[in-house]
Amino acid sequence: MAEKEKLRIELCMGSSCFARGNSGILMSLEEFAEQNGISDRIDLEGHLCLGKCNSGPHMTIGGKEYSGISDPDAVADIIRKALEEMDAESDIH
Ligand code: FES
Repeated sequence: MAEKEKLRIELCMGSSCFARGNSGILMSLEEFAEQNGISDRIDLEGHLCLGKCNSGPHMTIGGKEYSGISDPDAVADIIRKALEEMDAESDIH
């Protein structure tokens, strides 16, 4: 069976986004991935300040930008849906 495509998740690790929620998001994301057995399905990366701190915390999930979400459960839902969409697309092709 072919290896499934990975979902790319980029978190802004600049000091403002980190303080506004991405520090907690990072920890809960790693825990969520481990508990749900999807650690090998996600590609998690941090990046430096994007210069839009006022609307942070910023993250990109599967190429889509998200701002102002500091609730780890909301992020987990976005990731779950993004993985489902990726799997549905790969079933079509
Ligand atoms: S710290 Fe994230 S945009 Fe500035």
